[in-house]
Amino acid sequence: MRALCWHGKGDVRVDTVPDPKIEHPRDAIIRITACAICGSDLHLFDGYQPTMESGDILGHENMGVVIELGSEVTNLKVGDRVVVPFTISCGQCWFCQKGLFSLCDRTNPNAEMAIKAMGHSPAGLFGFSHMLGGYSGGQAEYLRVPMADVGPIKVPDNLTDEQALFLSDIFPTGYMAAENAQIKDGDTVAVWGCGPVGQFAIRAARMMGAGRMIAIDEVPERLAMAEAGGAETIDFSKCDVYDELMVRTKGRGPDSCIDAVGCEAAGHGAVDAVMDKAKAAVGLATDRVHVLREAIFSCRKGGTISVPGVYVGMGDKLPIGAAMNKGLTFKMGQTHVQAYTQPLLKIIEAGKIDPSFVVTHTTSLEDAPEMYQKFRDKEDGVIKVVLRPGG
Ligand SMILES: NC(=O)c1ccc[n+]([C@@H]2O[C@H](COP(=O)([O-])OP(=O)(O)OC[C@H]3O[C@@H](n4cnc5c(N)ncnc54)[C@H](O)[C@@H]3O)[C@@H](O)[C@H]2O)c1
Ligand SMILES: [Zn+2]
Ligand SMILES: [Zn+2]
Repeated sequence: MRALCWHGKGDVRVDTVPDPKIEHPRDAIIRITACAICGSDLHLFDGYQPTMESGDILGHENMGVVIELGSEVTNLKVGDRVVVPFTISCGQCWFCQKGLFSLCDRTNPNAEMAIKAMGHSPAGLFGFSHMLGGYSGGQAEYLRVPMADVGPIKVPDNLTDEQALFLSDIFPTGYMAAENAQIKDGDTVAVWGCGPVGQFAIRAARMMGAGRMIAIDEVPERLAMAEAGGAETIDFSKCDVYDELMVRTKGRGPDSCIDAVGCEAAGHGAVDAVMDKAKAAVGLATDRVHVLREAIFSCRKGGTISVPGVYVGMGDKLPIGAAMNKGLTFKMGQTHVQAYTQPLLKIIEAGKIDPSFVVTHTTSLEDAPEMYQKFRDKEDGVIKVVLRPGG
């Protein structure tokens, strides 16, 4: 089959590789009809995520048609159209039983690598490094889906691929980010990053009763999309974000701050950001924590910081004193996707949101390398790319 493979920093290619096979009775094989490139893929593309190997197949936002089933998957049939959570979760362990699906204890065959780096291992993820399971992703013609009796959900016929696909990741991720922000009616919520995750966080915050959403980015079309979702905007390349947030909230600061940027934050010459970049370049730190610092400084006393943005390792100079003395609450994590797929499908079916609003480009799998570059460099107005293998 054809598949988008990682070959090193900035080097992804569509290669011909062996088709996946059923390896376990709980597996399914699906023929991918649509998959997407995520901001998390950019961290792999840019070489931030350790334990990638040449030839790894990327892609964790996947949907398609079931073509083969292991003997223990009884809730799906060949021919079913399904969307697949990016988190691989057993549904049975202590964590899965509590709905903490991204923390599943049983799906990372390389758990010892993760334990060395983090103390414990989270769940295995599709297409996301060997430390997180070494599972092949779905930017390909076919995908092996482990734990297929727990993860994939059937898609109603009346929804298009573009309306259902983002149940695999970014809609639940934006939604959980807003939940983690502990929004109360009328609250002011600041969202750093107007990529796809920020866009869904803005819309979820509104659904949860936020009075004001203030969206921060520098890319005009992304700020425009945030505005269309009901947010006020701040262009961080044109002003000091802390100063501007204080003006807009009369000095109190936003009640909740959502970091939907993560480890590759841009800093435009801010001293801390220049230091982060230099340290990351020589391996003294791995993450650029500029946005997290700004969020801690800006958040109102007693407020909440929600972090859907991905961090991979060590960040330097986090103002822990400010966070402690201001009494901030932190909530973060990879999304517990399986906990959100059914409820959010209902929200889509009720017409409360059409997730396809975020798609700017639909193209073939063969174009994926070019689209990775354009998505990273924010060229051609790319906000969200959907790939159609075989289409
Ligand atoms: N927690 C999860 O389960 C989960 C799931 C999906 C994605 N993510 C993560 O969420 C983050 C966003 O994903 P995305 O797909 O929207 O990515 P993206 O790369 O499209 O968006 C990131 C945005 O942040 C903006 N940005 C950069 N520096 C900034 C700064 N200093 N201030 C404000 N904005 C800044 C960029 O201009 C860009 O628009 C990534 O870190 C991704 O890995 C997490
Ligand atoms: Zn993702
Ligand atoms: Zn589990």
